[in-house]
Amino acid sequence: MSLYALGDLHLFSEDENFMDKYGRVWVRHKEKILKNCSKIVKDEDTIVFTGDNSFAKKINRCFDDMDFIKSLPGRKILIRGNHDRYWESKKTDRLNDTFKGELNFLQNNFYTYEDYALVGTKGFTFEGPFYLDRFGNIIDIDRDALDHSKVLIKREEERLRCSFDKAVEAGYNKFIMFLHYPPTNILETESIFTQIAKEYGVSHVVYSHSHGKPRFHDSIIGEYEGVNYHLVSGDYLNFKPEKIL
Ligand SMILES: [Fe+2]
Ligand SMILES: [Fe+2]
Repeated sequence: MSLYALGDLHLFSEDENFMDKYGRVWVRHKEKILKNCSKIVKDEDTIVFTGDNSFAKKINRCFDDMDFIKSLPGRKILIRGNHDRYWESKKTDRLNDTFKGELNFLQNNFYTYEDYALVGTKGFTFEGPFYLDRFGNIIDIDRDALDHSKVLIKREEERLRCSFDKAVEAGYNKFIMFLHYPPTNILETESIFTQIAKEYGVSHVVYSHSHGKPRFHDSIIGEYEGVNYHLVSGDYLNFKPEKIL
């Protein structure tokens, strides 16, 4: 039995080839997801999809994409990404009811894997705009965007703590933490999300959202202050699920 993660499936059944324009790695990416998951993930395994699962804008238009995810092997858990517009923040329970026994939506709740609690939320991190000098050095940032990001980060912190609280209440003390956004941005070495990971003694933090070679190392990858950080963006892994445990 194993725990896997893969982010940013970027499914959109209404226009199957819409990601092709973003580079070779995205061409027929859905076929790669199916091929790799079928080869690697067994029915007894758990796989967490860390957001940007589908570009469907409404819940009643996400069924084809969810059918595809359902068809993959293993127990499936989903995190909400910035593009998952079918997943309104207050409608997680509705999604869990609609796909009961087939897909599990992680927000303000938790799931388990062996004696670990799987906790998580979308997360957020300030991504700019940054203002650069002619040498490419950051000389200023957009203050309004920074203020707005603080509101979003606070809300995501509350959702993450809700997930941890429920797991602790249920008696769990070992945690794997999932985010969609990277835990830190290019200016940070720590954030509320890295602090929470340390506070709860989280062993692995798994995130995605970063796309393209220049962005893959925007945040932490590997062991940092006792926590193992994994970037699992689909294009970073060429759509091969990463084994976490
Ligand atoms: Fe994405
Ligand atoms: Fe994203």
